[in-house]
Amino acid sequence: MNVGIVTVAEGRVYNLSLSLKELREVEVKVLRFLAERGEKSRLSDILAETGLEHAAVVKSLAWLEDKGLVSIESIKLEYLSLTDEGKRYASSGFPERILLSFLVEKGGEATLKDVFEAGILPESIVNIAIGWARRKGWIDVLKTDGKTTLRVLSPSPTRGSDEVLLVFLWEKDRVKRSELPEELAPAIDLLYKRNLLEKQSETEILAQITSSGIKVLESGVEVDEGVSLLTPDLIRTQAWRNVKLRRFNVEAPVKPVYPGKLHPVVQLINEIREIFLSIGFEEIRGPLVESAFWNFDALFTPQDHPAREMHDTFYLKKPSIVKLPDEGLVYRVAKTHENGWETGSKGWGYTWNAELAQQAILRTHTTATTIRHLAEHRTPPVKVFSVDRVYRNERVDYKHLAEFHQIEGIIVDKNVTLRDLMGVLREFYWKLGVKKVQFWPSFFPYTEPSIQSTVYVEKYKAWVELCGAGIFRPEVTVPLGVKIPVLAWGGGFERIAMLRLGLDDIRDLYRNSLGWLRQIPVIL
Ligand code: PHE
Repeated sequence: MNVGIVTVAEGRVYNLSLSLKELREVEVKVLRFLAERGEKSRLSDILAETGLEHAAVVKSLAWLEDKGLVSIESIKLEYLSLTDEGKRYASSGFPERILLSFLVEKGGEATLKDVFEAGILPESIVNIAIGWARRKGWIDVLKTDGKTTLRVLSPSPTRGSDEVLLVFLWEKDRVKRSELPEELAPAIDLLYKRNLLEKQSETEILAQITSSGIKVLESGVEVDEGVSLLTPDLIRTQAWRNVKLRRFNVEAPVKPVYPGKLHPVVQLINEIREIFLSIGFEEIRGPLVESAFWNFDALFTPQDHPAREMHDTFYLKKPSIVKLPDEGLVYRVAKTHENGWETGSKGWGYTWNAELAQQAILRTHTTATTIRHLAEHRTPPVKVFSVDRVYRNERVDYKHLAEFHQIEGIIVDKNVTLRDLMGVLREFYWKLGVKKVQFWPSFFPYTEPSIQSTVYVEKYKAWVELCGAGIFRPEVTVPLGVKIPVLAWGGGFERIAMLRLGLDDIRDLYRNSLGWLRQIPVIL
């Protein structure tokens, strides 16, 4: 039976002669449910009460809407909840509160040193606490002859809206934005910026039967199964010619799924591996705990080089020393530092100290790993790379981490030149999607000539430094017994990751915020 129906939906006029045979069982069930309800129904209620599958209902609704039999509205709902850090604050109090109570207890005043020594807050949080206490007008910071004193201005300030919201969310776990008391709304951004609050958005679908829908139901519905899956059998037996194939609506909304997937950092590292492997490189790895010998001395970095200082390099207590390689090599490196040995150089002109070379450190660059490899693989051609972790004693901020990754490599072969090096780097970045690369002269104690590469980033409208490179000096290669050119490079991984993932804060790569991880594609 056919019913001619004119429907107006979203301003479009459909004049459709709808064959009721086109309705499938699920669609009829959904339509009947909506007819019974009369009013707008949430998707979640339709699901709960019909017991139908989510995907099937969503698909049916989209189809029914398309035919003008139901009208659909989708509204975005925002939910708020605390991050792990937010939960920590909720149970222990804001750090600025903890600081304030301490100062009040000390009679209204204490030095910065006192605060650190009292251990009331983790060291990394003290400055944050001071910043906020000051911003909130609770304390004043006075600097007199090298001493910093914190003085209480307001000993028992009332709880701010940020504190009230924090506790509110802590008690409720997850709150719909629209159900939040109005006076707390301004505090949302405050907590969000401090990374204490997470926002999640969900779409709520509301469906209601239209008058056409009611007419169709009233005219009596026959259910047609239709065929939505084209099977090999249908093709083989030619039955497909006679069955009614249903259209797929690939745009129908479905419930998001969050399957397990590789972390974006791991995905990118794998991508970098693939690129190097595809151009004939082999991957190498080396120890994270290194001797200063491989990290610095073997690279002709003088023993009083500023990079060796405590504030750049992490020195270890346990183990505090790492065994040096064979005596012959140590001798040749020592003499090269002292007077150039047989490298043609004059050396640095000081007395080389074996104890300094034995010091155990966390490697500060993966050049320690390539030079180790070179010492044992001197027969050309050698083409190796590494993408691995390095450590520097940096103050962590939006641009710096103390633990990060470097992309490193060497090429050892007769007759290779700086041009080859630039070509390989350009090719590598190109394959990674970075198209505009420039090279500049630079300096490293272990390469001559030395260059650095910068890439143009549209978003920042600026050139960003990517890696250092060059040809190892004879002072580096000759003591190892290598007499042919060694092209070397090493540079940051996180910068590239940030560009690819559109992040402005390096820490976001490792915060593992679930919201962020979920919206990262399964395959980048
Ligand atoms: N090791 C240097 C760095 O950490 C980079 C570099 C590697 C430079 C190899 C030249 C050759 O910045």
